Amino acid sequence: MATFVKTRDIPIAGAHTLPQEFFVSSELFARERERIFARRWVCIGRESKIANPGDYFLHTVGADSIIVVRDRAGRIRAHYNTCRHRGARMCEAASGTFSETIQCPYHAWTYSLDGRLVGAQTSDSIEGFDKKNFPLVSVPIASWEGFLFINQSENPEPFEEAFASLIGRFERFNLPTLTVARTIEYDVQANWKLVFQNYSECYHCSPVHPQLTKITPANSGENDLFEGPFLGGYMVINEQHESLSMSGQACGVPVGELDEDDIKRVYYYSIFPNMLLSLHPDYAMAHYITPVAAGRSHITCEWLFHPDSVRDEKWNVEDGIAFWDLTNRQDWHVCEISQAGIQSRGYRPGPYSSRESLSVAFDREVLHALGRDGEGGGE
Ligand code: FES
Ligand code: FE
Repeated sequence: MATFVKTRDIPIAGAHTLPQEFFVSSELFARERERIFARRWVCIGRESKIANPGDYFLHTVGADSIIVVRDRAGRIRAHYNTCRHRGARMCEAASGTFSETIQCPYHAWTYSLDGRLVGAQTSDSIEGFDKKNFPLVSVPIASWEGFLFINQSENPEPFEEAFASLIGRFERFNLPTLTVARTIEYDVQANWKLVFQNYSECYHCSPVHPQLTKITPANSGENDLFEGPFLGGYMVINEQHESLSMSGQACGVPVGELDEDDIKRVYYYSIFPNMLLSLHPDYAMAHYITPVAAGRSHITCEWLFHPDSVRDEKWNVEDGIAFWDLTNRQDWHVCEISQAGIQSRGYRPGPYSSRESLSVAFDREVLHALGRDGEGGGE
């Protein structure tokens, strides 16, 4: 059984917010790309996007385009979208279905979906050429709870080790079988860390989200993960309400086998470095955050419901979607005013409150990943 601790009881040892460079410096941003986003397991969306053999989508990160494809045997693969001949980007459509192979449009080198080079015209004219030596460069990929994760490191930590504390933890929510009812993309003029720091605390909930505090009191938070890459816990839905929706009522059937505690809670987990997972009794919500520049992030938000809730007109899934679209926009706005203020020469790191202890823990993880332990984020 998980042990839950009140947010304010997690020590923060006088921690202050991070220095300005963490939000504005392109050098530091490039370092984060290398030390964090290219080394950790990064969520790239739902496995259901490529349900059948041949289905693919492109995942773009910085200069890299990655083809995520289900091969003929039904296995999910990720390959760099870069031809082994002269390096052309082969596939330009963001998603689709390959017939049998991936063919480069330049000189027509042809690859099987599992990445082997299977055709290269007149290759006998290339000295010592052996097709076996030129497969597409692959990217490690893993699936967890219906979500796909890639790791661009040369030598990645095995997914099962990196995610050991999460594997099995949310089984009762049936996440792999849920249906994506809506996807909304947001462009946010703020550093990716501000989005995490904001998600990790409800100190801002009363001033920023009146509709949310009416349903889940802002100080009801308790946490079972409060150090390391995964942070979070739950907030309590009050007696008069059933879920986070515009009406305050449930907008779908329970997503899984939920007990009487789960049915009165909303769970929030940040999954370092790019995913936020929010579990309501009747739907789940996932955010995937892609840093674009030091002061800009792209955020994809998906709402996941039990298939019955989407099928049966008795349920109004829009009630939950509208609630969080509004709440998201309130959050992005405060992230953007934070970014704007932090960019000023008037910015000085400020003191975190005890109600922001998970934001402090997040900062510590960032500093640790950058090899800068002990700076700013308290001990
Ligand atoms: Fe792809 Fe030549 S660059 S076949
Ligand atoms: Fe918020």
